[in-house]
Amino acid sequence: MTSLITTSTTSQSAIVASRPLPAALCAIAGLGHYLPDRIITNDELAQTVDTSDQWIMERTGISGRRCAAPEEATSDMAHRAALEAMADAGVTAEDLDLILLATSTPDTPVPSTACYLQARLGCGGVPAMDIAAGCSGFGFALQMAAASVKSGLHRTVLVVGADTLTRITNYADRQSCILFGDGAGAAVVAPTGRFDVIYSSIGSDGSGTGMIRVRAGGSRTPASLDSVATAGHTLELHGREVFKAAVLRMSDCIRKAASAIGVRPGDFDLVIPHQANARIIEAVGRQLDVPPERLLSDIRETGNTAAASIPIALGRADRASPLAPGKLVCIVGFGAGLAWACQVLLVRDR
Ligand code: UT7
Repeated sequence: MTSLITTSTTSQSAIVASRPLPAALCAIAGLGHYLPDRIITNDELAQTVDTSDQWIMERTGISGRRCAAPEEATSDMAHRAALEAMADAGVTAEDLDLILLATSTPDTPVPSTACYLQARLGCGGVPAMDIAAGCSGFGFALQMAAASVKSGLHRTVLVVGADTLTRITNYADRQSCILFGDGAGAAVVAPTGRFDVIYSSIGSDGSGTGMIRVRAGGSRTPASLDSVATAGHTLELHGREVFKAAVLRMSDCIRKAASAIGVRPGDFDLVIPHQANARIIEAVGRQLDVPPERLLSDIRETGNTAAASIPIALGRADRASPLAPGKLVCIVGFGAGLAWACQVLLVRDR
């Protein structure tokens, strides 16, 4: 596991009276998100597969998930989220000097979706690349942005998590089709800003590659009539195993993050796990004694939006009730790879 924890114990006493916290690696200066208008309801899914609104609500906490319009691709949603984040941070495309876009559903296999986004933003010349780390992609991109800003290599980095999962969902598979929705979330990362990033850690375990995957369409099994006929281009998942692994790994990440900054998991003012299933989020809370009011479950209206889930949940929570200066927020992702990412944010003044 890679860790970017700073060793400084400089007191942030103006903000958190009694807690000496690590110095910031960098900050999130602005947030934005985008969710398409169309909602796929549970009842709509129940018309095509053997399921029900009651089962889906009880087992996942999801009542609806968003679906991109036919002409809308991942970079289009990323663009909407990015514009909002840039406005929130008070920066323009000219200020950006790096674009990192986390996705598992690129517009096209080649070139990168980040390059489509860069062209839409009109900032030619700015390096732009995709990061593939499944549902943890935003956290991976945030860590790369933090490292770049901390090193002085880049100053203003646009980090986006965007996925159009409805395009790779098998709507004949009742286990998976109930989970996934579309959306994008973005953050502008800079040396200073509203959320100091005071801890960051990422990790992967390639022995779990078979647990969540799209079987075909790559170099191992190129697209063919057979791959299409056998739904090889859609997401396959071992739901029960992924459920258990997600609870264990995200709990472990939160425990390590808390320990690294000298608090207990229950001391975080808000914990935002990847929004994959409300029961996974509840189980993480039980493992760590994080009370429900400090655990964000925002999956009801969005479903699992993969790399977009954490920036969307953070942005929606902050918009609904702005996080007060001094609050400690822990964000933690888990997904295909397997891969996981965890950051601790300290809220500053606007
Ligand atoms: O972001 C990372 C990716 N996220 C994930 O992979 C999600 C992790 N997993 C999950 O969220 C849950 O495991 C699922 C929602 C996929 C499944 O929920 P579960 O509570 O783990 O159900 P289960 O797989 O243990 O299945 C229980 C029963 C089975 O029937 P039998 O064998 O007991 O007769 C399933 O066939 O529920 C059945 N089932 C359904 N029934 C109605 C599975 N899906 C459905 C459904 N509607 N949609």
